[in-house]
Amino acid sequence: MGIQFFENEKIFKLDTNNTSYCIALVDAFGYIGHAYYGKKISDTDLSYLTRIYEAPYVPSRNARDKLSFLDSFPMEYPTHGIGDFREDCISVQTQKGHSALELGFVRYEILNGKPALEGLPATFGDNAQTLIITLRDTVTGVEADLYYSIFEDSDAIARSVKVRNAGDEAVYLTKVLSASLDMDDKDFELLTMHGSWARERHISRNPVNYGFQGVSSIRGESSHQHHPFLGLLTKGTTQQTGEVYGFHLVYSGNFTGMVYKGQFDNVRAMIGINAEDFCWKLETGEEFQAPEVILTYSEQGLGEMSRTYHDLYRRHLIRGEYKDKTRPILINNWEATYFNFDETKLLAIAKDAAKYGIEMLVMDDGWFGNRCDDNRALGDWFVNEDKLKGGLKNLVDQVNALGLKFGIWFEPEMISPDSDLYREHPDWAIAIPDREAGLCRNQYVLDLTRKEVREEIFNRVAAVLDSANIEYVKWDMNRQLADLGSLALPADRQGELCHRYVLAVYELQERLISRYPHLLLENCSGGGARFDPGMLYYSPQIWCSDDTDAIERLSIQEGTALIYPLSSMGAHVSDCPNHTVGRVTPFETRGYVALAGTFGYELDITKISEEDRNMIPKQVEMYHKYHMLVANGDYYRLASYGENHYHDAYMIVDKQKTEALLTYIQVINRPNRHSAKIRLQGLDPKKQYRLCRFDINTGEEVSFGYSKDAAPGASVSARERTYYGDTLMQAGILMDNLWGDFKGCLIHIKAV
Ligand code: GLA
Repeated sequence: MGIQFFENEKIFKLDTNNTSYCIALVDAFGYIGHAYYGKKISDTDLSYLTRIYEAPYVPSRNARDKLSFLDSFPMEYPTHGIGDFREDCISVQTQKGHSALELGFVRYEILNGKPALEGLPATFGDNAQTLIITLRDTVTGVEADLYYSIFEDSDAIARSVKVRNAGDEAVYLTKVLSASLDMDDKDFELLTMHGSWARERHISRNPVNYGFQGVSSIRGESSHQHHPFLGLLTKGTTQQTGEVYGFHLVYSGNFTGMVYKGQFDNVRAMIGINAEDFCWKLETGEEFQAPEVILTYSEQGLGEMSRTYHDLYRRHLIRGEYKDKTRPILINNWEATYFNFDETKLLAIAKDAAKYGIEMLVMDDGWFGNRCDDNRALGDWFVNEDKLKGGLKNLVDQVNALGLKFGIWFEPEMISPDSDLYREHPDWAIAIPDREAGLCRNQYVLDLTRKEVREEIFNRVAAVLDSANIEYVKWDMNRQLADLGSLALPADRQGELCHRYVLAVYELQERLISRYPHLLLENCSGGGARFDPGMLYYSPQIWCSDDTDAIERLSIQEGTALIYPLSSMGAHVSDCPNHTVGRVTPFETRGYVALAGTFGYELDITKISEEDRNMIPKQVEMYHKYHMLVANGDYYRLASYGENHYHDAYMIVDKQKTEALLTYIQVINRPNRHSAKIRLQGLDPKKQYRLCRFDINTGEEVSFGYSKDAAPGASVSARERTYYGDTLMQAGILMDNLWGDFKGCLIHIKAV
């Protein structure tokens, strides 16, 4: 790994363990061009790849074809208004109303380590190296520092941009994306993730077409609908084969990620803050820090990309006490009681939970102010002692006495029109004067760009946390931003609101985890609308979706696990019929699916069937047996229900390849068919492994194998034997037909 500048060749070369990224300095103009990104290469002179000598685009600034040149040159950070007519990364508005910028090379610096991004979440690491290239527009004085960091133990590259007004008068930044990449291949497919409430991060793949394609959010958060991620895949890429470029924005607000295929079949991919609703005033000397993008390149398909992101995020993004620690198995009362609870009800749940091995009670929405339903009281963060008689401390002490930790729900960013807070401060909600702001779930968003608002909300939350032994917070956010107006911002800074809002959320969460370093924070937004790497910097886990149905979760978790480590996915076993889709699935299957995440329960344990309740201790055993492997291992996707509409399979392999866990879910049974063949991945071909099935009824492992005389549909009796890793990966194993729909099993694979 290393970053070098080759003076003679005028090439910046960033080498990770397996990839190279090359930037060419085109001396004649001072432009920097993108020369190469992909598998590691040896040559250092790559300027020929920028095509500067290719007719008819002659390499002279004064030549008659400057625009033709700019319109095809692979610019490393394309600017607006000078003749590169493809999508650009940056534009301004000057005092005279002009929008163009032409950024030329000024200097570079190579640092050991990785500087933090002021006010923003970002990857970190001592074992990193950073290249900073400074560019300048001579007319406006606007400067841009392009940051590129690489890590000793990762193939990812972190890019970001800092813009500075080094001119004499204020300018408005009207667009500033974080990264752009120009590539030649014609046959890329674009992988994005789309969704809705209760249906987040479904994977979509389409051929890249001429013109624009992409994803975006102007909802003030990363959103249920799109995800701040782009994957460019060579045609036909699978989990194990094909080239993949990943672009993941470490940001939780409005974003745009787009791909543009141009007239020469070249592809430009870019990602950053959405320019819509964005305009940032930069006074002389002021700087703007754009968020970070994590680039990855894999030549071994999507699986390799997933593992690169997982390792990077586990090692270099997630922080705090719970970074590598087992998370307590929690029981959350939301689906159990909704708003209808009191301390007696919660204690009854806690009592049974403790008896059955659950480790933490989380009190969800409804414990504060006059919050009897979702129409009121957000902002009134005072315990409702009519509901919780004896107060919060009394309840928490009793829960603790049962041997359980205690967690609590907040929605700190919101204000209900029917709340004391709103009656006192009606101007604290984001709104446009004289325009009636729209409601969503009957609530407004607080104008957190105002310091006094942040102060008050933080103090209210802190007072609750200080009042009892609270060890977990679920930080929710249940509506999107609209009617954008802040009383605190002057007219020419209203375009700063959305980004300032995100910065404010980051500031609040940073303050929270600094003040409560032992707190386990779980972010949430109407389920998974703010599941993004930005939030992961503050909370090691994020609620994945309000949809807890085991089958719906297969696709949601598949999309999420494509980029995020399983240790970050909030996943619970809930009651049936499922509250979102009405589906009835076996209790054990709900457990297997939740095991792929943080694991917990979201049901009334006092009311579920005896049979289900009795399975909880076995599931608790299952969690403790396998969770650390799931949380820290390498993830391999073997089959996708979203693709085959029949079954789902994935496995986790420990770093030493001595142990693995296969989860197999047979969604729909079919009559008269062969057993399903699954080819394993990630094992050591030369090692021998023994396979065991986890028996949920006993909590024991029983050997898994094949018997010649097993009857169809019957459970296959075991035959003790071992298999070489190469056999398991090439020839595969046969998964017994499971009787019924929505069935599943866990296979534990251990090297002998
Ligand atoms: C959101 C969350 C749920 C629950 C409710 C409470 O929808 O995603 O898990 O906390 O809010 O109102």
